[in-house]
Amino acid sequence: MALRPPACKTLSLSIRRARRDEIQACADLYERVGSATFSWRPKNWFKATDFLRFAKEEAVYVAESNGQILGILSLYRPERFVHCLYVDMPAQGLGVGTALLAHVAKDVRGPLALKVDEPNSRALAFYKALGFIERDSGDDHGIRWLLLRQDA
Ligand SMILES: CC(C)(COP(=O)(O)OP(=O)(O)OC[C@H]1O[C@@H](n2cnc3c(N)ncnc32)[C@H](O)[C@@H]1OP(=O)(O)O)[C@@H](O)C(=O)NCCC(=O)NCCS
Repeated sequence: MALRPPACKTLSLSIRRARRDEIQACADLYERVGSATFSWRPKNWFKATDFLRFAKEEAVYVAESNGQILGILSLYRPERFVHCLYVDMPAQGLGVGTALLAHVAKDVRGPLALKVDEPNSRALAFYKALGFIERDSGDDHGIRWLLLRQDA
């Protein structure tokens, strides 16, 4: 992707539900960004096929600009639970993740919840800056996770 920060300052983002024919591209983004980020998880932990399975039960949103999918969010609506939030590497830090969360929070009309691995310090700082608060924690294959929820 040939996207650079200066170009993104004038980026016009569209946040919307993914079309059926975009789900595979979303799954590929999930695998690519997850594998590049989660160095504390085993190799091959992130599989596009897992995302295709999630998408059967979860609402998938995309952040798109000029026909490019820059970020994805999947939501388990009954619990307002954000299961996946991934922004493609060249588009990170430009407001895409914030825009996806803001759009979905408005859509569901209530506080969102999500889980984050504790070693994911960047994501943790991002969520805390957006007002998410730690509500629970647990262990998954030796990795501590935190359940975060927006203040009601
Ligand atoms: C975490 C993630 C979703 C955030 O989305 P994003 O589009 O990059 O974030 P935004 O540009 O909307 O927001 C950036 C904010 O995050 C925080 N942030 C960004 N980089 C940071 C860093 N290196 N350290 C601490 N906080 C940081 C800041 O609060 C920043 O706000 P600011 O721009 O006002 O300073 C995205 O970076 C991502 O996909 N990361 C890899 C996958 C991942 O970890 N997903 C979450 C799984 S739970």
